[in-house]
Amino acid sequence: MTHRILILNGPNLNLLGTRQPEVYGPTTLADIEEMCVKRAEALGVTLDFEQSNHEGALIDAIHAARGKYAGIILNAGAFTHTSIALMDAISSAMVPVVELHLSNIHAREDFRHKSYIAPVAIGQICGFGAAGYPLAMDALLTYLGEG
Ligand code: DQA
Repeated sequence: MTHRILILNGPNLNLLGTRQPEVYGPTTLADIEEMCVKRAEALGVTLDFEQSNHEGALIDAIHAARGKYAGIILNAGAFTHTSIALMDAISSAMVPVVELHLSNIHAREDFRHKSYIAPVAIGQICGFGAAGYPLAMDALLTYLGEG
């Protein structure tokens, strides 16, 4: 069966490329999407790629993923460090989630060390910049037994 996976990006990630390039690199979200589409073709999976700046929209996307996607790769941006509601959505959705960050959140400010996503994710990838996206796809497919 061809897996369908969702890559879900949270607040401010639409600004990648111009947003603090010294932290997040020069790659735009459109570049990352292109990279992920190529990886999806190589892995033989169907990919949807979304971004929202709104917590409720991200929660709705996670709810809607139930029964539709084999897994989600989630870069929740700053909501990672604040959102019990996103954590609860993941716990309720019964869809495996890989937590992803471009930067190494553990090497940054203290408030970024706390992740509400980590306890309900199957694992976390951070610190590899844009390359973390295809790595997260590989990790998810390995988890699903297809990697
Ligand atoms: C981020 C890390 C978060 O702490 C930050 O708020 C972001 C981006 C990352 O991809 O490195 O918006 O999720």
